Amino acid sequence: MALARGKRETGQDLSEAAISDVLLCEGLFHTEPLQQFELMTNDSIQRFFRREIVAMKPYTPGEQPQAGKAIKLNTNENPYPPSPRVAEAIQQASSQLERYPDPIGTAFRIAAAGVLHVDPDMILCGNGSDDCLTVLTRAFVGSGQKLRLPYPSYILYRTLAELQSAQFEEVPFDSHFGLSPQFYTADEQLKLIFLPNPNSPSGTVVSQDSILKLAESVDCPVVVDEAYVDFSPTNCIALIERNPKIIVTRTLSKSYALAGLRFGYLVAHPEIVHTLRKVKDSYNTDMLSLAGATAAISDQTWLAENVRKIITTRGRMFAELQRLGFDVTESHANFLWCTRNDRSMKLLYEQLKQNGILVRYMVYPGWSDGLRISVGSDEQIDALLVVMKQLLSAD
Ligand SMILES: Cc1ncc(COP(=O)(O)O)c(C=O)c1O
Repeated sequence: MALARGKRETGQDLSEAAISDVLLCEGLFHTEPLQQFELMTNDSIQRFFRREIVAMKPYTPGEQPQAGKAIKLNTNENPYPPSPRVAEAIQQASSQLERYPDPIGTAFRIAAAGVLHVDPDMILCGNGSDDCLTVLTRAFVGSGQKLRLPYPSYILYRTLAELQSAQFEEVPFDSHFGLSPQFYTADEQLKLIFLPNPNSPSGTVVSQDSILKLAESVDCPVVVDEAYVDFSPTNCIALIERNPKIIVTRTLSKSYALAGLRFGYLVAHPEIVHTLRKVKDSYNTDMLSLAGATAAISDQTWLAENVRKIITTRGRMFAELQRLGFDVTESHANFLWCTRNDRSMKLLYEQLKQNGILVRYMVYPGWSDGLRISVGSDEQIDALLVVMKQLLSAD
């Protein structure tokens, strides 16, 4: 592949350095687009976007270091590899990649329906549960309408509302991470509620009674985001039949150790699922992720053993962090929310990072800041505790 030498509009030759930036491939690309770049400033490009898009802050996911051996406890991934059946299924599916995938993921829905004891027509597959949350917001919340979420919780919900030019109403949890009375208030403009259960960053759960009461109090769908539910003793699937306003979203990123595969799904009344299909991309899950996810959800023995290990480590980590002087919230998820008011949590986060340990530092104005620490393997948590002890005893 030969590098072509480019000329700018002024006629001057591009320097070697500029050429290495540009990497023109002879015969494939030519220089016109580059000349256009020079004519337009960033501001004149920004004016093409909707005002709301320009104004909004992007959602920032947790850091994903590209190299090195960081101990990653910042995005609630599973520290263990997934069921070996996943790789086998992906390998098999890779021989048919010239075909489009099943647009509605029939094999996955049948397998998941068997595990959850629901009808396959109650399941919609997504490219991660974030995709399901996006489809739901696009389907239910129009411009100027309102989406309600608890505070503090998953920050992506705000972004989804902003993308719709909708309003988001953040209602603070009460001091025990329960729903405050305001969360139940009816409002004509309210079109969707998101409730992560277990919640992030706290790991706490709201009772099934509260969720049923919420669905009875408002005139819009209530989405229970169960991304972390496999680490919790209860879930809301059975509530859907009691009140079809309740929709449950799930992910295979956490308990099934498949964050890299991108697969999630939602469970709802069949009429809701049927209509949501109009909103999703036609092929929103690919053939490899469908095969991997179907294999994963069919291996419930692997899931039970993985969840058991993580819950055991969570208990030990909880006790040790408390012993080190942190206020640790009791968690039903695969992470712990740790705060303390005798030192800067930001500094501690930075010191951990310098020691090769990534945790998530989160600031919630009007609430508190803290560290959300994923439950890693026993070895990772031992390393975290050793470094924590050193840092805390150093001053
Ligand atoms: C509460 C909550 N919901 C949904 C998600 C998204 O998961 P997925 O990887 O399936 O998009 C996350 C990811 O961290 C989360 O914390």
